[in-house]
Amino acid sequence: MAKQHSKIGTTFSIENDSTLYNGDCLELLKQMPDGVVDLVVTSPPYCMGKSYEDPKDDLRTFFDKHTELLPEIFRVLKDGGSMCWQVGYHVKNNVVTPLDFMVHEVIKHHPNKEIVENLVLRNRVVWTFGHGYNASQRFSGRHEVIMWYTKGKAYNFDLDSVRVPQKYPGKRHYKGDKKGEFSGNPLGKNPSDVWDIPNVKSNHVEKTEHPCQFPIAIPQRLIKALTPVGGLVLDPFFGSGASAVAAALEGRRFVGADTEKSYCETAIARTEAAFAGTIKYREDKPVYEPDPRQAVARRPGHFITNGEEEKA
Ligand SMILES: C[S@@+](CC[C@H](N)C(=O)[O-])C[C@H]1O[C@@H](n2cnc3c(N)ncnc32)[C@H](O)[C@@H]1O
Repeated sequence: MAKQHSKIGTTFSIENDSTLYNGDCLELLKQMPDGVVDLVVTSPPYCMGKSYEDPKDDLRTFFDKHTELLPEIFRVLKDGGSMCWQVGYHVKNNVVTPLDFMVHEVIKHHPNKEIVENLVLRNRVVWTFGHGYNASQRFSGRHEVIMWYTKGKAYNFDLDSVRVPQKYPGKRHYKGDKKGEFSGNPLGKNPSDVWDIPNVKSNHVEKTEHPCQFPIAIPQRLIKALTPVGGLVLDPFFGSGASAVAAALEGRRFVGADTEKSYCETAIARTEAAFAGTIKYREDKPVYEPDPRQAVARRPGHFITNGEEEKA
């Protein structure tokens, strides 16, 4: 869907297909008019001592910076637009704080009452993945969260564009008027609010030098479901440019910022590759599931056959 010869700018212009600004996101937002963005999708700094953070940043910084940023995000968002905040956990000295809780607190206790009343939570999506730090004193963390809010009550939601394969596509109604007919939606099922998508570790096809990329499939799914073709997507902390790439792949426009020059260069190169059709990325497809009919050394009792648990 990406078009050739697309215009990438480094300062905001509504004419750009993609704007990748090297600087503070608040500076960028101040150059943007009201109500032009269809979707904000981002993963902010967690204030946990990453190379791109001030070592003094802590949970208070996270709360204060979000309180300052939110009015500008709200201003540039269209009525009916969406805001998706992808966050995990702040962990320091063995104290674990869920950042989605902090984000929700910032919104629901914001001094601007328009924000409190008009940002409506639609889903708290759990993003689960198979790999990460192996903990020894608690259960290893294998999920983060996406908080999806809409500006106001009416909003875009194109479920058909993000349906996933049915688990049992051959399942039929077994009684009533529709007996014998297929019971599932032929376009697939709702992907639900638990998304199993591999995270970007060292051997992932999308890996760059950025220490905490999210996979392109995350913004891509949100862009498809929550924006019209040609709509404008904003990522105030674009890092390696995953959201910019997803927007280019899906024929949407993009605007975003990052303070680190080297990440901006990476994001520009990846966006150019997306427009040229040469970007390497993992398609949004189900994670491998074992085939219960395959030969195995010993057949596990939990293998499922025809929707019924196999008798041991
Ligand atoms: C969690 S990372 C985002 C990663 C991104 N989602 C990706 O897939 O690569 C947060 C990013 O915010 C950038 N950043 C930190 N403070 C910023 C600010 N005030 N304005 C813009 N970018 C900022 C950092 O350089 C970092 O790349």
